Amino acid sequence: MTKPIKKAVFPVAGLGTRFLPATKAIPKELLPVVDRPLIQYAVDEAREAGIEQMIFVTGRGKTAIVEHFDVAYELEDTMSERGKDMSVLNPTRATPGDIITVRQQVPMGLGHAIWCARAIVGEEPFAIFLPDELMIGKPGGTGCMKQMVEAYERVGGNLISVLEVPMEEVPSYGVIDPGAANGALTEVKGLVEKPPLAEAPSNKIVSGRYILQPEVMRTLESQEKGAGGEIQLTDAMAKMIGDQPFHAVTFDGNRYDCGSKLGFVEATLALALEREDMGEDVRAMAQRLLGQKELVSGR
Ligand code: UTP
Repeated sequence: MTKPIKKAVFPVAGLGTRFLPATKAIPKELLPVVDRPLIQYAVDEAREAGIEQMIFVTGRGKTAIVEHFDVAYELEDTMSERGKDMSVLNPTRATPGDIITVRQQVPMGLGHAIWCARAIVGEEPFAIFLPDELMIGKPGGTGCMKQMVEAYERVGGNLISVLEVPMEEVPSYGVIDPGAANGALTEVKGLVEKPPLAEAPSNKIVSGRYILQPEVMRTLESQEKGAGGEIQLTDAMAKMIGDQPFHAVTFDGNRYDCGSKLGFVEATLALALEREDMGEDVRAMAQRLLGQKELVSGR
C-alpha cells in the first residue's frame, strides 16, 4: 500500500529574470493566463489530484501570491451589494489552514527551495508543482498531477513528469536516461541537469511536476551547488535512483513554459482559443491582425 499524496510544495521564490521587467514587482506566479494567475492553475490541478495541503515556498516580494487565496471581505461585500456574480472567486477560496507558507531567504535554487519545506512535509511522500510550467490536460481528460497520482498508486516510489522536445532544446533542461517503458510509464535510470547536446541521454525532459519520497530532503541537506551555481533538485533526485523505484510519466496533454515570454504568449493564445466564451472572437481577432500584418508587409 502506498501512502496517499496529500501535501504539495509550490516553490515560488525564484527571481523570474527571464520575464523582466514584468516580474520586477509582480511575482511571475501571479501573471494571468486569460483570467487566472499561474498559481491558481497549479493549485486547481493539485486539488483535482486529491491534494489537500498547499505549501508555498515564498521569498521577498511574493506575499501577494498568498493573499490571492485570502478571503477579500471588502471586495465580497461590495460585489454582493451590487448583485455581482461571486462564483468567479470560488477557486480562490482555500480551506482554512490548508495554505502554508515557508520562506526561502535567498533564492539558492530549486533544490534549496524544496528543502526549505522539510519540516512541514515531514515523513510523507509529497508532490511538487512548478507553477510557471502550465500543464493543461486534454479536453475530457485529467490534469498532469492526477495522471501521476494514478501511476503512483500502481508503482509507488518517486515519479517525475516528462515530455519529449526537439534534441537541440535538451541542453536547457533536466533530462532522463530512460530504461524500460510500459505505456506512459518509463523507468528512470539516470538524470542530468542541462547536459551538453553530445552528452544528453535522451530528449525526454523533466517538466515541472514531481512525486517524491521524504528521503529527498535528507539528500538535499548535503547537496552541493550544481548547474548555474544553484542547489539543483535534479542532482538530489539522481542520487536516489537505485535506492528507490524511479519512474517518469509522459504527460498526456500540453505544457507551456510560462517562465519565458514566448511560452507565455503561446499559453495565452492556446487557452483563449479553447474558451467557449471567447474562442471564436479570439480566432477572428487573430485572423484580422494577421491580415493587417500581411497588408503592411505587402504579402
Ligand atoms: P526557474 O528556473 O524558472 O527560475 O525556477 P526563476 O528564478 O523563477 O526564473 P528565471 O529563470 O530567473 O527567469 C523554477 C521554479 O523554482 C522556483 C521558481 O519560483 C520557479 O517556480 N525557485 C527557483 C525557487 O523557489 N527558489 C529558487 O531559488 C529558484
